[in-house]
Amino acid sequence: MKGIILAGGSGSRLYPITKGISKQLLPIYDKPMIYYPLSVLMLSKIREVLIISNPEYIDFYKKLLGDGSNLGMRFEYKTQEKPKGLADAFIVGEEFIEDDCVCLILGDNVFYGQGFVPKLLSASSLNEGAVIFGYFVPDPSEFGVVEFDESYNVISLEEKPKSPKSHYAVPGLYYYDNSVIQRAKKLKPSSRGEIEITDLNMEYLKDGELKIELLGRGFAWLDTGSYEGLANASNFVQTMQKRTGLFISCIEEIAYRNKWISKDQLVSLGNEFSKTEYGKYLLQIAEEVII
Ligand code: G1P
Repeated sequence: MKGIILAGGSGSRLYPITKGISKQLLPIYDKPMIYYPLSVLMLSKIREVLIISNPEYIDFYKKLLGDGSNLGMRFEYKTQEKPKGLADAFIVGEEFIEDDCVCLILGDNVFYGQGFVPKLLSASSLNEGAVIFGYFVPDPSEFGVVEFDESYNVISLEEKPKSPKSHYAVPGLYYYDNSVIQRAKKLKPSSRGEIEITDLNMEYLKDGELKIELLGRGFAWLDTGSYEGLANASNFVQTMQKRTGLFISCIEEIAYRNKWISKDQLVSLGNEFSKTEYGKYLLQIAEEVII
């Protein structure tokens, strides 16, 4: 399976912060926002990742992440001229995906919680169909909303409904088989002029090929779409890291624990940032016996 991170958009909901910088490069406490979705792909054991952003920002992402070899990964980059919708990622990414399955994660989605990795590994082992997630929120009308029955069969999907049929929002993390490319090409733009991920998921639903996994109580799917959401996400990461002594979404640590890089490589990454807590943490991980 391959991975795509969509890091485009105008970020206008965060102006003036995002007037001169891409939203997904903003910090969430001690690391750039894009590290968080990247870590989700890595925890899904996905090593080949395409990063899609606007033409004016793509070089910033290249500078930050390079070709991925320092993490034992491979990164590719593509630009999206205009925000044409989330489903456009599969058209932009067609050559990258080739004949593989693919996971799409939105560059501003931050996830954290126990029991996440088994869900990710199960979703990333799919060969057919699609897997989406459901997350209880008080007001789901700003999101894609999923309705399901007691056996977790999806009944309906709606994009930003005025009267949501359930409290379950669909987070920006989706796993698909290879038919996603052809399905995306057939979509018609919505009233906001974009090809919608919800319409794509509805195609899978129509064919009886859509599965849902719930992210339960105690699981954090953080909002980064407002000033307050950004500040809260930073505070959440700071609090968790301080209390547990473990870093959230530390991509170098994950690469090391996945055995994609050696101890020596981890040490040299740690030495690069040795003035920071982040670098010291990497050096400390390199010292410990892996369990
Ligand atoms: C997009 C999707 C929506 C999903 C959300 C998750 O919304 O269209 O279905 O629930 O991401 O972050 P947008 O960010 O484009 O408003």
